[in-house]
Amino acid sequence: MALLSNDEVLGLIKRAQDFKYQRIRPVFNRQFFVANLFFENSTRTHKSFEVAEKKLGLDVIEFDASTSSVKKGETLYDTVLTMSAIGVDVCVIRHTDEHYYQELVDSRTIQSAIVNGGDGSGQHPSQSLLDLMTIYEEFGTFDGLKIMIAGDITHSRVAKSNMQMLKRLGADIYFTGPESWYSDEFDVYGQYMALDDLIDSVDVLMLLRVQHERHESGETFSKEAYHDQYGLTRARYAQMKESAIIMHPAPVNRGVEIASDLVEAPRSRIVAQMTNGMFMRMAILEAILNGKA
Ligand code: CP
Repeated sequence: MALLSNDEVLGLIKRAQDFKYQRIRPVFNRQFFVANLFFENSTRTHKSFEVAEKKLGLDVIEFDASTSSVKKGETLYDTVLTMSAIGVDVCVIRHTDEHYYQELVDSRTIQSAIVNGGDGSGQHPSQSLLDLMTIYEEFGTFDGLKIMIAGDITHSRVAKSNMQMLKRLGADIYFTGPESWYSDEFDVYGQYMALDDLIDSVDVLMLLRVQHERHESGETFSKEAYHDQYGLTRARYAQMKESAIIMHPAPVNRGVEIASDLVEAPRSRIVAQMTNGMFMRMAILEAILNGKA
């Protein structure tokens, strides 16, 4: 994703908006096959890619890791090699291993395009692009926006993709959350601060899911303690600017990162993020297929 220029990012946002508001359906000059290879659980990414693929008129190849030859010990590389050999044009992949895609894109045999649907705690580029679309739809710019990324930053691929892209696009980034889930390596992108020092002046509060499945034992907080110290409580919501928005990539731990009744509150864009995700994924797939067509 870091290889996309700012103009290319804006181009994808505009194209996703075309799909969203003008209901455009591109016509490709041949049949394309897509496989969604999810080796880690997903609802939004998997299903919004699937809807996007169907809206684009692509042929979606069913793949379920639990009934595939992965269960016989086949590697990811050999699974994708097979997809490529049988004519699958695009593989959308989610995997627990960071940088799983490197050997696939370095391969001289694999012809399928690889779309990263999330690699461990590494990157989540399609989520970042839908987040950028959601922010752009709200403010029409990234320049000078005060964006606070809150929570489990170390384990969040969403945070990593977003901090890189938002800084490059001119936003001012701030981080908050437990210090044990923060690393000095993020200092190049923004400043670590207490949530209560900035809650009344942020334009975007980007909450992150507490990723219990990626935690070593001993890094736990009670739900109540996390919510009180680092979460969006009703009291904090009341302090936010009228124009500020709340984002969360979801799934949400209701009552932990955010009070349950704020998920659909007026300043929340959590549902809009999901909707934008489907349109952004249409734009991503179209751009890839136009490159191959
Ligand atoms: N935001 C996101 O990636 O959600 P899923 O894990 O449900 O795909």
